[in-house]
Amino acid sequence: MNDAPVIVHADDLFAGYLPGIDILNGCSMEVRQGELIGIIGPNGAGKSTFLKSLFGLVPIRKGTVKLGTEDITNMRADELVKRGIGFVPQNNNVFPSLTVMENMEMGTYQNPKSFKAAWERIGDLFPKLVDRKNQRAGSLSGGERQMVAMGRALMMDPQVLLLDEPSAGLSPDRQDETFVRTREINKTGVTVIMVEQNARRCLQICHRGYVLDQGTTAYTASGQELLKDPKVIELYLGTLGA
Ligand SMILES: Nc1ncnc2c1ncn2[C@@H]1O[C@H](COP(=O)(O)OP(=O)(O)OP(=O)(O)O)[C@@H](O)[C@H]1O
Ligand SMILES: [Mg+2]
Repeated sequence: MNDAPVIVHADDLFAGYLPGIDILNGCSMEVRQGELIGIIGPNGAGKSTFLKSLFGLVPIRKGTVKLGTEDITNMRADELVKRGIGFVPQNNNVFPSLTVMENMEMGTYQNPKSFKAAWERIGDLFPKLVDRKNQRAGSLSGGERQMVAMGRALMMDPQVLLLDEPSAGLSPDRQDETFVRTREINKTGVTVIMVEQNARRCLQICHRGYVLDQGTTAYTASGQELLKDPKVIELYLGTLGA
């Protein structure tokens, strides 16, 4: 794993929504091909902002993002999709008035010819979506909606998938399913960068984790090491030994 080439490299990012106010102040991350990376940290730390900045949705004021050797800093989202980056946002991640199938079609709008094969692939991964293909996404359960959002991002067959809190708001069973699916997707060769509030579960499945605090990537280590780190336990995992 460790000698795989670096696929995403964020170097010392400063970014924010309002002029003069940086939410990110020094975020760095180096991700190797095939890695499953978890990002944990308290509410408001800037985790979503970090993912959005990688996907061209929050202006980066300083620092660079590279995809392989290409500089993709502040590149538009549609250009990033063409280059193989998929993003599942934390909120409002489906088109509620469209059916499941129509949501999937939106996933391949840049290359409609790829729809049929992609839909078959996604159907194998999420059989539930095939059963529900004619149902409006807005009438699905939270877990099913999450599948639609993930499925849509996967329709373009991305090489890198950015996931923002895929397990949020789901029942424990459904949360578990999300982690299992994420792991499966990663095993097919997709590099995954996931933000998660369920820090314990996230660190259990990820190869490496980053702790993000107050807009800065404080430290990184393997998921297993972070699970044992007293500071991480105290701040993010709750009671010792749980
Ligand atoms: N659209 C926006 N405009 C202005 N400020 C924003 C916007 N979105 C987020 N912020 C601010 O940026 C900071 C970081 O927010 P962000 O959503 O990145 O945190 P987070 O780590 O993802 O938190 P959570 O765990 O609650 O999802 C917060 O102080 C928030 O108020
Ligand atoms: Mg967030």
